[in-house]
Amino acid sequence: MKQTITFHLNGEPFEVEIEPHLTLLQLLRDKLELTGTKEGCGMGECGACTVLLDGKSVNSCIFPAMEVDGKSVITIEGLTDAQGKLNSIQKAFIEYGAIQCGFCTPGMVLSAKALLDENPKPTEEEIRTGIAGNLCRCTGYLQIVQAIKAASGQT
Ligand code: FES
Ligand code: FES
Repeated sequence: MKQTITFHLNGEPFEVEIEPHLTLLQLLRDKLELTGTKEGCGMGECGACTVLLDGKSVNSCIFPAMEVDGKSVITIEGLTDAQGKLNSIQKAFIEYGAIQCGFCTPGMVLSAKALLDENPKPTEEEIRTGIAGNLCRCTGYLQIVQAIKAASGQT
Protein backbone atom coordinates (compact mmCIF):
# COMPACT_ATOMS: atom_id res chain seq x y z
CA MET A 1 0.00 0.00 0.00
CA LYS A 2 1.30 3.45 -0.94
CA GLN A 3 2.29 5.88 1.77
CA THR A 4 2.75 9.63 1.78
CA ILE A 5 6.05 11.19 2.75
CA THR A 6 6.91 14.87 3.08
CA PHE A 7 10.42 16.21 2.86
CA HIS A 8 12.47 19.09 1.54
CA LEU A 9 13.90 18.48 -1.91
CA ASN A 10 16.52 20.95 -3.07
CA GLY A 11 15.15 23.49 -0.61
CA GLU A 12 11.47 23.15 -1.54
CA PRO A 13 8.82 21.35 0.54
CA PHE A 14 7.64 18.25 -1.23
CA GLU A 15 4.95 15.62 -0.68
CA VAL A 16 4.73 12.38 -2.62
CA GLU A 17 2.94 9.05 -2.44
CA ILE A 18 5.28 6.08 -2.78
CA GLU A 19 5.42 2.33 -2.54
CA PRO A 20 7.23 1.39 0.69
CA HIS A 21 9.89 -0.69 -1.11
CA LEU A 22 11.11 2.20 -3.27
CA THR A 23 14.74 3.28 -2.95
CA LEU A 24 15.60 6.96 -2.81
CA LEU A 25 17.33 6.61 -6.19
CA GLN A 26 14.15 5.17 -7.77
CA LEU A 27 12.11 7.97 -6.23
CA LEU A 28 14.44 10.66 -7.58
CA ARG A 29 15.06 9.27 -11.05
CA ASP A 30 11.93 7.32 -11.93
CA LYS A 31 9.19 9.22 -10.13
CA LEU A 32 10.54 12.75 -9.90
CA GLU A 33 12.64 12.66 -13.11
CA LEU A 34 15.70 14.11 -11.41
CA THR A 35 18.11 12.17 -13.58
CA GLY A 36 21.23 14.05 -12.50
CA THR A 37 21.63 11.38 -9.84
CA LYS A 38 23.23 8.40 -11.57
CA GLU A 39 22.87 4.67 -11.08
CA GLY A 40 26.12 2.75 -11.29
CA CYS A 41 26.48 -0.45 -9.31
CA GLY A 42 23.09 -0.30 -7.58
CA MET A 43 24.72 -1.95 -4.56
CA GLY A 44 26.17 0.87 -2.48
CA GLU A 45 29.70 0.49 -3.79
CA CYS A 46 30.43 3.14 -6.43
CA GLY A 47 28.95 6.39 -5.12
CA ALA A 48 27.45 7.43 -8.49
CA CYS A 49 24.06 7.77 -6.78
CA THR A 50 25.29 10.01 -3.95
CA VAL A 51 22.89 12.67 -2.67
CA LEU A 52 22.92 14.72 0.52
CA LEU A 53 20.53 13.81 3.31
CA ASP A 54 20.47 16.47 6.02
CA GLY A 55 23.87 17.51 4.70
CA LYS A 56 25.50 14.06 4.81
CA SER A 57 26.27 12.03 1.71
CA VAL A 58 24.29 8.82 1.27
CA ASN A 59 24.14 6.18 -1.45
CA SER A 60 20.59 6.66 -2.67
CA CYS A 61 20.55 3.27 -4.47
CA ILE A 62 20.41 1.44 -1.15
CA PHE A 63 18.60 4.08 0.90
CA PRO A 64 14.86 3.50 1.51
CA ALA A 65 12.84 6.43 0.17
CA MET A 66 10.50 6.15 3.17
CA GLU A 67 13.34 7.23 5.43
CA VAL A 68 13.62 10.72 3.92
CA ASP A 69 10.27 11.60 5.50
CA GLY A 70 10.77 14.84 7.45
CA LYS A 71 14.32 15.31 6.18
CA SER A 72 16.14 17.41 3.60
CA VAL A 73 17.50 15.96 0.36
CA ILE A 74 19.87 17.79 -1.97
CA THR A 75 20.57 16.39 -5.43
CA ILE A 76 22.96 17.74 -8.04
CA GLU A 77 20.05 19.73 -9.51
CA GLY A 78 19.90 21.63 -6.22
CA LEU A 79 23.45 22.98 -6.33
CA THR A 80 22.90 25.65 -8.94
CA ASP A 81 21.40 28.96 -7.86
CA ALA A 82 18.02 30.33 -8.95
CA GLN A 83 19.57 31.65 -12.18
CA GLY A 84 21.08 28.26 -12.97
CA LYS A 85 24.64 29.33 -12.15
CA LEU A 86 26.98 26.53 -11.10
CA ASN A 87 28.31 26.51 -7.56
CA SER A 88 32.02 26.87 -6.80
CA ILE A 89 32.70 23.12 -6.68
CA GLN A 90 31.07 22.56 -10.07
CA LYS A 91 33.04 25.46 -11.57
CA ALA A 92 36.30 24.10 -10.15
CA PHE A 93 35.60 20.63 -11.62
CA ILE A 94 35.28 22.23 -15.05
CA GLU A 95 38.30 24.50 -14.60
CA TYR A 96 40.57 21.65 -13.45
CA GLY A 97 39.40 19.11 -16.03
CA ALA A 98 38.05 16.85 -13.29
CA ILE A 99 35.35 15.47 -15.60
CA GLN A 100 35.72 13.00 -18.45
CA CYS A 101 32.70 10.77 -19.05
CA GLY A 102 30.93 12.61 -16.22
CA PHE A 103 29.15 9.57 -14.84
CA CYS A 104 30.74 9.86 -11.39
CA THR A 105 30.61 13.65 -11.34
CA PRO A 106 27.24 14.43 -9.67
CA GLY A 107 28.03 12.06 -6.81
CA MET A 108 31.61 13.24 -6.59
CA VAL A 109 30.54 16.91 -6.42
CA LEU A 110 27.99 16.18 -3.70
CA SER A 111 30.52 14.23 -1.62
CA ALA A 112 32.87 17.19 -2.04
CA LYS A 113 30.13 19.53 -0.85
CA ALA A 114 29.46 17.40 2.24
CA LEU A 115 33.19 17.43 2.96
CA LEU A 116 33.68 21.19 2.50
CA ASP A 117 30.55 22.05 4.51
CA GLU A 118 32.02 20.10 7.43
CA ASN A 119 35.69 20.87 6.85
CA PRO A 120 36.16 24.04 4.76
CA LYS A 121 39.96 23.70 4.41
CA PRO A 122 40.67 19.98 4.09
CA THR A 123 44.14 18.58 3.48
CA GLU A 124 44.75 16.47 0.39
CA GLU A 125 44.50 13.35 2.52
CA GLU A 126 41.17 14.52 3.96
CA ILE A 127 39.90 15.22 0.45
CA ARG A 128 40.88 11.73 -0.69
CA THR A 129 39.15 10.25 2.38
CA GLY A 130 36.07 12.42 1.75
CA ILE A 131 35.64 11.04 -1.77
CA ALA A 132 36.77 7.50 -0.96
CA GLY A 133 33.24 6.15 -1.53
CA ASN A 134 33.05 7.64 -5.03
CA LEU A 135 34.68 5.65 -7.80
CA CYS A 136 35.94 7.29 -11.00
CA ARG A 137 37.09 5.14 -13.89
CA CYS A 138 38.41 7.99 -16.00
CA THR A 139 40.33 10.76 -14.29
CA GLY A 140 42.82 9.09 -11.98
CA TYR A 141 41.46 11.36 -9.19
CA LEU A 142 44.29 13.92 -9.35
CA GLN A 143 42.24 16.59 -11.12
CA ILE A 144 39.29 15.87 -8.85
CA VAL A 145 41.41 16.38 -5.74
CA GLN A 146 42.88 19.56 -7.24
CA ALA A 147 39.40 20.87 -8.05
CA ILE A 148 38.10 20.25 -4.54
CA LYS A 149 41.20 21.91 -3.09
CA ALA A 150 40.66 24.92 -5.34
CA ALA A 151 36.97 25.08 -4.40
CA SER A 152 38.08 25.29 -0.76
CA GLY A 153 40.14 28.37 -1.61
CA GLN A 154 43.48 26.54 -1.35
CA THR A 155 45.31 26.58 -4.65
S1 FES B 1 24.80 3.16 -7.74
FE1 FES B 1 24.66 3.55 -5.64
S2 FES B 1 26.62 3.14 -4.86
FE2 FES B 1 26.72 2.55 -6.95
S1 FES C 1 34.71 10.99 -15.14
FE1 FES C 1 34.17 9.02 -15.89
S2 FES C 1 33.82 7.85 -14.11
FE2 FES C 1 34.60 9.71 -13.38
